[in-house]
Amino acid sequence: MTRITVTVDGVAHEEEVEPRLLLVHLLRDRLGKIGTPVGCDTSNCGACTIMMDGRSVKSCSVLAVQADGSELLTVEGLADGPTWHPMQRAFHEEHALQCGYCTPGMIMAALDLLKDDPDPSDEAIRHGLEGNLCRCTGYSNIVKAVRRGARAMSDQEVTT
Ligand code: FES
Ligand code: FES
Repeated sequence: MTRITVTVDGVAHEEEVEPRLLLVHLLRDRLGKIGTPVGCDTSNCGACTIMMDGRSVKSCSVLAVQADGSELLTVEGLADGPTWHPMQRAFHEEHALQCGYCTPGMIMAALDLLKDDPDPSDEAIRHGLEGNLCRCTGYSNIVKAVRRGARAMSDQEVTT
């Protein structure tokens, strides 16, 4: 077992973990962050995407021990109390989800995309979300939501 320290959605945690434990399982099974789903066992779908030290990672492809000392942000850490993050609101307003399974990962990947390109074209959005799969929506409303969320973040001067 290895002792690690991680900050998750602003709260510090110290945990004893097995070297093979995946970060997504630390988040879900030990820390109760079930807003981050597991959608595949091939690191393919992107549903488990979170931010690690400010950049997106698929948390099923990272070992918990590799996150030692990191600042982690999950979809559960985005809202400010009862107030949704602008990107969460945009997904709601553009009807960018059906089953919602891909949504946490889509939102986190979108936020990562905006760090490099705060006003992305539709093509850039589609390219930036390539690692995130949605089996329900056909992606059009997701692209619209990311555009709308980007505008709202810019208007409200929200950076993540
Ligand atoms: S669960 Fe991580 S990529 Fe699918
Ligand atoms: S909304 Fe169902 S997988 Fe995307």
